[in-house]
Amino acid sequence: MAIEYTKQVIKHFSNPRNVGEIKNPDGKSMEGNPACGDMVSLTIKVDGKTKKISDIKFKSYGCASNIATASVLTEFAKGKKIDDAKEITWKQVMDKLGGLPKIKIHCSVLAVDTLKSAITDYERKNGLLKEDPDVLSEKNIKLRLKSVVNPATGADLISSNMVSSYFQKDGKIVVNLKICKDHEYAENIEEEIEEHVSTLNGFKSAKVKYSCK
Ligand code: FES
Repeated sequence: MAIEYTKQVIKHFSNPRNVGEIKNPDGKSMEGNPACGDMVSLTIKVDGKTKKISDIKFKSYGCASNIATASVLTEFAKGKKIDDAKEITWKQVMDKLGGLPKIKIHCSVLAVDTLKSAITDYERKNGLLKEDPDVLSEKNIKLRLKSVVNPATGADLISSNMVSSYFQKDGKIVVNLKICKDHEYAENIEEEIEEHVSTLNGFKSAKVKYSCK
């Protein structure tokens, strides 16, 4: 079945804004989605005094929504202070596009996560990192799980109460889900969980357990 996109998605896909790569960027990041294989990279320039994003460019190696979400995100983030840009959510980006098909919502998550990583890169290089989002802690595991969307509902695992518990011991992460192993998107969700937690420092393995009760 053909995927139906909004006019805004088609507009940004056909004529994407801020495409390219900044030379000598202040922050950069490349993130990918393991389930679909799509990737996006972002480079940013940050004004050292105002801490505003003065320039931002992206390159996409992915689908129409990947391109459209990265395009609209760069427009939204440009000129914002980095602290404000870090608060941008994938729901805001999706709303700016008039919505996305549920199966494509992870494209907006990918774009927003890539921006956050580019800002983290800038903060790390400049000694501005207050809390390291890559530290292996339960708080950061929860944040990563908030970036995993169930394509069946279009909601993230934490907001939709799909996670019964999670913990880590010596870099081995266990996530207990309240869905059956034969859930139509179980494999997809499992891959996304592993991808999201695997970049935490000291990560060794991720195990997803299912419960139908
Ligand atoms: Fe995966 Fe668009 S980023 S389908």
